[in-house]
Amino acid sequence: MLAAAISWLLFVSSIFSLVTCLVSAVPNEPFAIHISCGAREDVRTKPTNTLWYRDFGYTGGRYTNASVTSSIVPPLQTLRYFPLSDGPENCYNINRIPNGHYAVRIFFALVADSDLQNEPVFDISVDGTQTYSMKPGWSNSEDQSFMEALIFVTKRSLFACFHSTGHGDPSILSIEILQVDPNAYNYGQSRSHVMILRTAKRLSCGTGKAAFDEDYNGDHWGGDRFWLGTPSLSQGSDQSISTERSIAEASLPPNFYPKKLYQSAIISTDQQPDLTFEMDVDPGKNYSIWFHFAEIDPRVTSEEERVFDILVNGDVIFENVDIIRMTGEGYTALVLNRTVAVSGRTLTIILHPTKGYAIINAIEVLEIIPSELRTLPEEVSTLQTLKTSLGLPLRLGWNGDPCVPQQHPWSGVDCQYDSKSVRWVIDGLGLDNQGLKGFLPSDISKLKHLVSINLSGNNIQGSIPFSMGTITGLQTLDLSYNQFNGSIPESLGQLKSLRILNLNGNLLSGRVPANLGGRPLHGASFNFTGNAGLCDIPGLPTCGPHLSIGAKVGIALGSLIAFLLFLVCLVCWWKRRQNILRIQKIAASREASYAKARTNFGRDVQMTKHSSPQRSQDQSRIATEDSPALLS
Ligand SMILES: *[C@@H]1O[C@H](CO)[C@@H](O)[C@H](O)[C@H]1NC(C)=O
Ligand SMILES: *[C@@H]1O[C@H](CO)[C@@H](O)[C@H](O)[C@H]1NC(C)=O
Ligand SMILES: *[C@@H]1O[C@H](CO)[C@@H](O)[C@H](O)[C@H]1NC(C)=O
Ligand SMILES: *[C@@H]1O[C@H](CO)[C@@H](O)[C@H](O)[C@H]1NC(C)=O
Ligand SMILES: *[C@@H]1O[C@H](CO)[C@@H](O)[C@H](O)[C@H]1NC(C)=O
Ligand SMILES: *[C@@H]1O[C@H](CO)[C@@H](O)[C@H](O)[C@H]1NC(C)=O
Repeated sequence: MLAAAISWLLFVSSIFSLVTCLVSAVPNEPFAIHISCGAREDVRTKPTNTLWYRDFGYTGGRYTNASVTSSIVPPLQTLRYFPLSDGPENCYNINRIPNGHYAVRIFFALVADSDLQNEPVFDISVDGTQTYSMKPGWSNSEDQSFMEALIFVTKRSLFACFHSTGHGDPSILSIEILQVDPNAYNYGQSRSHVMILRTAKRLSCGTGKAAFDEDYNGDHWGGDRFWLGTPSLSQGSDQSISTERSIAEASLPPNFYPKKLYQSAIISTDQQPDLTFEMDVDPGKNYSIWFHFAEIDPRVTSEEERVFDILVNGDVIFENVDIIRMTGEGYTALVLNRTVAVSGRTLTIILHPTKGYAIINAIEVLEIIPSELRTLPEEVSTLQTLKTSLGLPLRLGWNGDPCVPQQHPWSGVDCQYDSKSVRWVIDGLGLDNQGLKGFLPSDISKLKHLVSINLSGNNIQGSIPFSMGTITGLQTLDLSYNQFNGSIPESLGQLKSLRILNLNGNLLSGRVPANLGGRPLHGASFNFTGNAGLCDIPGLPTCGPHLSIGAKVGIALGSLIAFLLFLVCLVCWWKRRQNILRIQKIAASREASYAKARTNFGRDVQMTKHSSPQRSQDQSRIATEDSPALLS
């Protein structure tokens, strides 16, 4: 009985440890987000049953039905497009992404509406770096219907922006953020976190079929790359071969190339011993080129049977490549990479055999893009505050980063590189005649690198923030033709560099800061005309004597004493009047009954007064003084 229990326990625990062992052997799944732009609901697509989240994280735009341009595009129904009236730059801001290395892939699409069949062409940036400038004709070319770039996420968030270039409304079908190995496409020493790698070409040779890693049963950590198939590099003067045999050394970290990639190849022939591949590129860029080989030709089994050089734009970048020598045996993957600078518009790769024929299984060309420095974060959030409180019109956009990509800064914002913070900063705001309303927040002083502000011709209300006096480098401040009210803050007088100050055409009142008064004599140009009631500057009325605090206190005290004296006089006058009235009454009655007793009148009066107990000394004095006059 006991033995049975123990063996049962042992059995259970061994099963348990086997399960834990299996679980821990499975690598962590890479993080992945798929967004179906414009979708109101989550969507699943065949055949991989991929889950696409419904649209989120966008800054604007509209959604509509999509017309998908090619067979490689995910079969999604909707897209999001960004009319120019919604601003020249619109973005998707995706947060809560674990820091790491990611492939970001964005598919484009056309609006499914016969009226809007124009193919839009626009620029795309990721985290402030322009990664792609679309080429006309993309909708007719399979591998140009998306932009893909490898980027490091370091702040748990990522934003992708679409910049109008005046050629139609950017229209986005999907956004994918797919984690890849931290070392993926490590092309050597200079690969650092500040480099972005954009996929320029990914070619699977010897097959006519286009495929994703997933179709090739590739590892998820490869980022689900798209491979454009090509059966020939030179319209028939070469030949394609393929094999079903398994390939060793494929699907390894960090790049996890699918085995299938090495099961087909293109081989040159006697007709044309060189294999040549040519593609258009943007001039003046660096490209990381990856070559894939596996000796899958059963005729080649040992070293020295196939040896070739690899040339890029005429330069030999690999000499005497002998696949069998380098891998040790056939059916084994070999990956070579090299970085080249391309000055022209064409990238030409030649595989030139010195023994046998040339072979190639796959080629990848990645553009190396240095990331842009970003704008100082405090300044970005301050501009966002301004955007809200000034009711910035939609058409100005103001999404993404204000200064980068440098090709597409925000309109109305001037940028300057600040070597101290190694960031971009804002040195000018030019938002004149933009229909702004609302008020100017005191936060504007956080844009402390500002040299020039022009908010002329808007409808901004409220007071001029006192804090503006702390923007020490400010040279030009044009707030003319707005609804600013209250007084000009004294702090503006501290702005030593201020050369142009236009406050004309507002509702300002009160004294112009004394510090500003003398400046126009020294070449500065100030305009205070057309306000509600400014004073104390040449050309404007004076506000009256200029008073110190002591003087003001003195005046206040003096006024108080004068007021008290006035009160006292008033009371006396009233009392005296009362007395006169009473005396007149008494006199009248005496006159009637004792007409002869007139000479006693004065004494009677005096006796009446002294018998009244509430009287103050002053009053009685005044009264006694009065009496003789009255008597005389
Ligand atoms: C999109 O297509 C669906 C049918 O697939 C249709 O019901 C809907 O009206 C379309 N929407 C627009 C904006 O055209
Ligand atoms: C790419 O080539 C460089 C040398 O040019 C080498 O250091 C690096 O390891 C290679 N990367 C891979 C993943 O093979
Ligand atoms: C290309 O690489 C070279 C050497 O690393 C570098 O000096 C140059 O600035 C790079 N060019 C571009 C456009 O990134
Ligand atoms: C500010 O903008 C207005 C309107 O565009 C312009 O007339 C004015 O000259 C500008 N102010 C300065 C100081 O440049
Ligand atoms: C200035 O205008 C704002 C809004 O128009 C108003 O609330 C405020 O009281 C005004 N301030 C002065 C000093 O007139
Ligand atoms: C100041 O502004 C007024 C309009 O408000 C204009 O007529 C005048 O010429 C300006 N003065 C100077 C010196 O620019």
